[in-house]
Parts: sequence; C-alpha cells; structure tokens
Amino acid sequence: MFHDLIDFNDLNHSEWENLFELGLDICDNPSKYKDYCKDKIIATLFYEPSTRTNFSFQSAMLKLGGKVIGFSGTDATSVSKGESLKDTIKIVANYADVIVIRHSSEGAAYAASLYSKIPVINAGDGGHLHPTQTMTDLFTIGRLKNKKMTGLEIGICGDLLYGRTVHSLLKAFSLYSGNIFYFISTPSLRVPEYFMAGLGKNNKIIITDKIEDCIEKLDIIYMTRIQRERFADPEEYKKQTGIYILDKEKLSKAKKDLTILHPLPKNDEIASEIDDDPRAQYFNQAEFGLYIRMALLIKILENPKITPKIINSEANKCPNKNCVTNKEKNLPNISKTNSGELICVYCEHKIY
Ligand code: CP
Repeated sequence: MFHDLIDFNDLNHSEWENLFELGLDICDNPSKYKDYCKDKIIATLFYEPSTRTNFSFQSAMLKLGGKVIGFSGTDATSVSKGESLKDTIKIVANYADVIVIRHSSEGAAYAASLYSKIPVINAGDGGHLHPTQTMTDLFTIGRLKNKKMTGLEIGICGDLLYGRTVHSLLKAFSLYSGNIFYFISTPSLRVPEYFMAGLGKNNKIIITDKIEDCIEKLDIIYMTRIQRERFADPEEYKKQTGIYILDKEKLSKAKKDLTILHPLPKNDEIASEIDDDPRAQYFNQAEFGLYIRMALLIKILENPKITPKIINSEANKCPNKNCVTNKEKNLPNISKTNSGELICVYCEHKIY
C-alpha cells in the first residue's frame, strides 16, 4: 500500500495494474466519478513552472468533486520570506488532504514526505524523477498498444541526462522485460548509469547518436526537450540544442503504427509538420494524464497516511550539489544501499 508517490516504483505491480484499470474506466465513464473526492482538498505547490502537471492535477480534483488550493511560483508565498520547505509542508498539511509538489531540488518531494501528515505526490523534483508523467506515459502506451508492454522497440531521444521524465520511465520499464531500448543522445547527455542498471537486467539497451540508426525499427519514439534550466553553463546548452529534430523526412522511414510520444513542452525537437501525423500522440498523451491522475488521487486518498519517522542517520553528506539536502537547512542525511552501493535516499546519487 502506498502512502506517498515519490517514485513510480513506490507502487507494486498489482497496485499499478489496478490504477491503470481505474484510469481506463475513468477515461470511458468520467461522470461516474464526479463525487469520489467530494470535500477533499488538493494543495498544488509548484515552486517551478508547469502547465500540464499543475492544471491536470487541479482539473482531476475538480472533476472528482474536490477543491483546489496552491501556488504557481513562490513570489506571493512566505517562501519568498525565507520559509523552509519543511515548515511550508508542515503548515500546508493542515489545510489540505493531499499535497502535489514540484521543486527544482532533487529529492525535494521525498523531503516533503518526511514532514507531511498527508500524502505527498512528486510532480517533478529537479532533474531527478517525475512519476506521474511516467504514469501518463505507461497509460498512453497501454491504451494505444492494447496493454502490450513487452516485445517493443522503444527509442528515447534528446536530453537523457537531465530529463526526469526519462529517468522515471526507465525505472518503471525495469519492471517489464523483453523490450529493446535505443538511447539516442549526444555523449554529453547520456542516461546516468544509475537508471540503466535495473532496466538492462531484462531488456536490451542500444546506445546511439542518430535517430536514423533505428527509426525504421521503432514501435515508440519518445522525444524530449533539452532541459535548458538544468545547465550550469548556457554555452553548453546552446551546443546541445537543435541536434535532434523529428521531421517528415525521418518519419518517412518509420513504421506506419509508430507511436510518437513527448512529455511536452516541446521546442524544436519535433517539427510542427508532424503534429497532424496520426502517429503523433503527444497531445492525446497529455489528455490521458488527466485520467490517470484522477485514478491516482482516488487511490492515494483511500489510505490514511502514516507519517514516516525521521531517521537519525549517520550518512555522509550527499555530494550532489542539486540535492535538496544541500539546498535546504536541517534535513537529515539519509542513505540506503542499492546494488551494493551507498546512495542518498533523496536524490539517489552515490555517497562516497
Ligand atoms: N510534462 C510536464 O511535466 O509538463 P509541465 O512542465 O507543463 O507540467
């Protein structure tokens, strides 16, 4: 039973399957669910910009009969007066039934879950994870490919280093087997080793730097934006842009039943001439995100939250400068072992 949703893998396989089936039913019969969250309040705490995730969560709660509070940007909140994440969460947890948080620091949602007496949903923590986008992606693939999640050839293209939607998706696909993944990126923007390990056990991974190397084999191509906001050096960002553009010419070699996905927002990595191609499913993907988030809200509110205990850990400080423990004061250093390595529980970076 899950009480928070920080990582897609907080759900076991049967919990995900139940959520998926519920999402399908909501998609087909939305009015049946109009009172499921009557009198419930969602708090949407968006420290970073968002269109899809923020509005789809708000819309999901409203369609379930509930109410919405929250902020988009911290200028009008006491965060601008220096209030810590910990204090903000402890306060907001008094006013709502579930918190959805997007934050620029890796591990911020996990940190929030330590101090919240109500469920916390990670809506994106820096360049780390974005589990509800993964739910959206898997729901879309399941819906469009008749629930087939194995035997697929999947290309993932663009910013595989900083793209949190990619990281979450790969962790989720490590639960499935028999797929072939083509990681298409420049050498500087490859998938971090940590996210490859689990996936590679039961799936084949091919690393390439050209869409043309694999486009004709793919069942799915998942395009991503170069994540400008994660680059410390603007010159390096400039060097990485405009390299991968999916256009009509490249698509002319693709399968007729290819599915083109993108978590959005997109920049120039998909030529606009593609938008009307029936294989382009990214706008439908964003719509499917609404139904799976409705399913998630119903399920997460069924279980009373057990506030996790703060663990007094002797762990060393996390070396990741983007980790929330290096951005916020007074968070305990906590580690866990993964495949024999000591990692930070917030951001999953190796601790030496
Ligand atoms: N896919 C996604 O997270 O979009 P937003 O940034 O608009 O929420």
